[in-house]
Amino acid sequence: MKGMGSAAQVIAGTPTGIATAQTSVLLGLEAHPIRVEVSCTRGPAFFQMVGLAEAAVRESRVRVSGSLSKLGILIDQYAVTVNLAPADLRKSGAALDVAIALAVLAAVEQLDPRALEGVLLVGELSLDGSLRPVTGVLPRLEGAERRGIETAIVPRGNSAEAGLARGVKVLVADSLEQVVQHLRGQLTLPTAPPTLFVPEMSVNAGDLSEVRGQASARRALEMAAAGGHNLLFVGPPGSGKTLLARLMPTILPALELEEAIECTAIHSVAGTLPAETGIVTQRPFRAPHHSVSEAGLVGGGDLPRPGEVSLAHHGVLFLDELAEFRRSAIEALRQPLEDGKVCIARARARAWFPARPLLVAAVNPCPCGYFGHPRLPCRCSDTLRDRYQGRLSGPLLDRIDIHVSVPPVEVAALVRAGGGESSAAVRARVIRARARQRERARELGLHATLNAALPGAELERIVKLDQESRRIIEGAVARLGLSARAFNKVLRVARTLADLDGEQHVRACHVSEAIQGRILDRTGTR
Ligand SMILES: Nc1ncnc2c1ncn2[C@@H]1O[C@H](COP(=O)(O)OP(=O)(O)OP(=O)(O)O)[C@@H](O)[C@H]1O
Ligand SMILES: [Mg+2]
Repeated sequence: MKGMGSAAQVIAGTPTGIATAQTSVLLGLEAHPIRVEVSCTRGPAFFQMVGLAEAAVRESRVRVSGSLSKLGILIDQYAVTVNLAPADLRKSGAALDVAIALAVLAAVEQLDPRALEGVLLVGELSLDGSLRPVTGVLPRLEGAERRGIETAIVPRGNSAEAGLARGVKVLVADSLEQVVQHLRGQLTLPTAPPTLFVPEMSVNAGDLSEVRGQASARRALEMAAAGGHNLLFVGPPGSGKTLLARLMPTILPALELEEAIECTAIHSVAGTLPAETGIVTQRPFRAPHHSVSEAGLVGGGDLPRPGEVSLAHHGVLFLDELAEFRRSAIEALRQPLEDGKVCIARARARAWFPARPLLVAAVNPCPCGYFGHPRLPCRCSDTLRDRYQGRLSGPLLDRIDIHVSVPPVEVAALVRAGGGESSAAVRARVIRARARQRERARELGLHATLNAALPGAELERIVKLDQESRRIIEGAVARLGLSARAFNKVLRVARTLADLDGEQHVRACHVSEAIQGRILDRTGTR
């Protein structure tokens, strides 16, 4: 390669340098800075890596040596020691390759070590020296400037994601050779163009206008979308629960840039970014199968990975056939749903992922599905039904603000021409109701914007009830034995109903409708 000493010349020299390069490893969504220190001396050839490197990092020796040989550097001729500091942090993944290769080059005096100062290097190498995209580029770049990083160099394949980063100049490269030439001043790498964020609506989900009848389920969908309330559909097979739940994303406002950045970071770490865009542009819709493990649902693993609840952040988490999920998985959802994030404790550190999805769950009223059906008989024994309903009860249901019965569709409604309102019309109301909540949150200095997240302690201050509303709610508490938590949910949902109506104060009709959404028992009958 031009400007590079031949292998023979390098071996003839006596490089004994130590060089450092900057990179990072991820723990959850947090990037931890890693200093790659390399010492190379001539002598008995070896390559050792110290500093808690896991298998994929140790294998980088093969990729680094292959890539360097393309540049005419044979590291087999050196005693190479790579130290990854800090030593007490586990290093995993292949994203350290480029930093290791460049520190080696600088240590054998083929690159001025000063060229590596203030440069963050992220990327995996192929044997031929090309740069392969890596996961978690965006979180690695966020906040890099606070560590004194001015420039980051990333693989071209990560360009769209890198274009969302702020505060640091990001350059993209195709190969190690290009990076070396750039650092030597022989070439100028292109900057990652700022990614043009164009939010998209989920186009494949269909449209609410296709749903016939089901007025109360449609209303529940709208309420849930407007106030961010978790929602449960209870009904017999074929009543349209899955159909309705899948339409939830079509009535949510488009993703905002800040939300897209968070979603992109999570999906980047998980390796689930959409290939076409390279960033998240739609509200996620995640519908894990009921056989999903606890770690699959909430996240976990040796190297913490986000679970479905985080992959659905700012979107919809749909748990279809809720009764079929493992109890342990459902139990594990409680804490994330409460806190809006998942914490994964590891021996030396703690990883966390945001987790604020809108939860939509669907369930049959009993194993055969027909309990409470207006025409068909239920074939389940009382014991079977009790056991089934017992599986559903508990703390998760308590965290679902709106429970709604989805009865079988009337044949008349199915054959009647024309469906209901379109998703766009409903979404317009949802957007207005959310704007009101945002305005109120600003006026009152609230941390939470959506009604579903209003803290219990502040509810009385935020949701002021007139005399009639108070009478209705007190009656419901006495009649239905509402718990304090259920009471709070009624207030939150009532506030959303008032916001949908564009009213400043919650009125009796809002409270009554909110109570209806709470008093369904597990069978879906009142
Ligand atoms: N209200 C409706 N309007 C139009 N089509 C409907 C309606 N309800 C159901 N369908 C049709 O019936 C099919 C079955 O509905 P869906 O799968 O949503 O039922 P489900 O309630 O989820 O049933 P299960 O309990 O068996 O999962 C859908 O593909 C849809 O085409
Ligand atoms: Mg279904």
